[in-house]
Amino acid sequence: MSNKPVAESLKIVLADTYSLYLKTQNYHWNVTGPHFKSLHMLFEEQYNDLFTAVDVIAERIRTLGEKAPGTFSAYQKVSSIKEGNEKADAQTMVKELAEDQGKIITTLTETLQAAQNAGDEGTIGIIVDRISVHEKNAWMLKSSL
Ligand SMILES: [Fe+2]
Repeated sequence: MSNKPVAESLKIVLADTYSLYLKTQNYHWNVTGPHFKSLHMLFEEQYNDLFTAVDVIAERIRTLGEKAPGTFSAYQKVSSIKEGNEKADAQTMVKELAEDQGKIITTLTETLQAAQNAGDEGTIGIIVDRISVHEKNAWMLKSSL
């Protein structure tokens, strides 16, 4: 099967998801302060989910007949997620990650539109699942502020 516009849109989802995976793991490693343990664990849950999602998204791109980008330079060109700063304080880390959930939802919503236009039910299923995960992540992060 082949659908270039959907695959191209998924490449941005892949870039955002990989970038947020790395940023969340960065903050898992480097968070400090009185809420260290709970944030360290929350970030771990989230980066584990992102790690799994990256593979699902990349393989959907392959299913649609396109090559899946797998380099940081390719991701940086299109990602809406700004790189993390390991020296940031805990509150800034949580705030940034909460905002990033919103950014990735925007990318996912655009991809959902492309998949709906193409009648691509397989991609729609993946995207709808990811939107609900990021909405939940946003809630958990905002509740930690
Ligand atoms: Fe760890």
